[in-house]
Amino acid sequence: MENWSPDSWKSKPILQQPEYQDAAAVKLAEDELAALPPLVFAGEVRSLHKQLADVADGRAFLLQGGDCAESFAEFNATNIRDTFQVMLQMAIVMTFAGSCPVVKVARIAGQYAKPRSTGTETINGIELPSYRGDIINDIDFTAESRVPDPQRLVRAYHQATSTLNLLRAFAQGGFADLHKVHQWNLGFVKKSPQGEKYQHLASQIDDTLAFMEACGIRGSNVPQLKETSLYTSHEALLLNYEQALTRQDSITNRWYDCSAHMLWIGDRTRQLDGAHIEFLRGVENPVGVKVGPTMKPDELIQLIDALNPNNLPGRLTLISRMGADNITKLLPPLVRRVKEEGRNVVWSSDPMHGNTIKASSGFKTRSVDSILKEMKGFFEVHRAEGTYAGGVHFEMTGQNVTECIGGAYRITEEGLGDRYHTHCDPRLNADQALELAFLIADTLKQARGR
Ligand code: PEP
Ligand code: CO
Repeated sequence: MENWSPDSWKSKPILQQPEYQDAAAVKLAEDELAALPPLVFAGEVRSLHKQLADVADGRAFLLQGGDCAESFAEFNATNIRDTFQVMLQMAIVMTFAGSCPVVKVARIAGQYAKPRSTGTETINGIELPSYRGDIINDIDFTAESRVPDPQRLVRAYHQATSTLNLLRAFAQGGFADLHKVHQWNLGFVKKSPQGEKYQHLASQIDDTLAFMEACGIRGSNVPQLKETSLYTSHEALLLNYEQALTRQDSITNRWYDCSAHMLWIGDRTRQLDGAHIEFLRGVENPVGVKVGPTMKPDELIQLIDALNPNNLPGRLTLISRMGADNITKLLPPLVRRVKEEGRNVVWSSDPMHGNTIKASSGFKTRSVDSILKEMKGFFEVHRAEGTYAGGVHFEMTGQNVTECIGGAYRITEEGLGDRYHTHCDPRLNADQALELAFLIADTLKQARGR
């Protein structure tokens, strides 16, 4: 990679960064991070790259999801387990009912920094700096809480480390064993129509496993039956954190951002000459870019060439987030152009960020109906263009929250206040997420049957 170094982004214009008051304290935190071990290993990143190349080729499907913003307050084993569990449930539904291998990438173990549409927030006439995620400042609405604290970088790293430690244990320690599919059904989901549908599917899997065992195929000789891989991802927003965790791989001498397996660039920080593109173009990780309504076809091709000059399948995932009413109008010209120019990308759909509304009660919310509409539009566009709809990107949680309207429990605007816990955007709860997984499975099955 020419003219690139882990700090070459510093010479480019940068948006959405905190204004720290004490430069020496920032340097101290960065040095501390740079001396700590990487969170992920380059070999794992290469495995994900290969699996995403399968997605780019239409042989697998990408499921990416998790919190909008992880927080220090909601950090505990139950939350991590429940996120892992709902990802497993969704993936098994898509794999079994959709007959398609699923690559699981969670928004976890690093999703702490948030871009904001305004630099300040005003409540009852008081104006304070916006909350930018727990890695930067605190959500409490006091002047003191909103001051960016560089030691939060180090705290976020340690929280990511223990999150990842538990995820690895779950993935390999027996929790993900296919013989346990029934047990992944979370308490509140079990009682819903989705939960029942899931129990039925789990019973079919049991029968299949029994048949396979009779044929001599079992966990002791086929590890895929008793363990899984779950990759991590987050928005690479705070570039000093990313730089401090960027390491040169001793096997290939190439640079890897070892804060997560996959990193993405948000819709607000994807300027062609900006710092975020500069940083991510130089690391080997699979990279995502959010593609919002303002993206133009020419700009998209330039962006693809900046991030994936060698046109490697699996390197780049384009995550469209157009809004339910815009998708069938705005996505086709982009998809068509990428196809005409022969660029290898994974197309994924984020049906969340173009569909955020404010309820009359003041809560930010999204309706399951509009999420569904955007997702359907995404699949339709790809079918019409003869391209592959490769994945989905959700904000969701394993918790029984009331943040998005609709779904089997019919959450209403009035009910949003019951269990509204997100630190940023409204998430699907496990039941709503599972409902979408069944619909995706149907679509995948139809597409494969053709
Ligand atoms: C996000 O994924 O949380 C986000 C901020 O998305 P976008 O960049 O698409 O607005
Ligand atoms: Co969000």
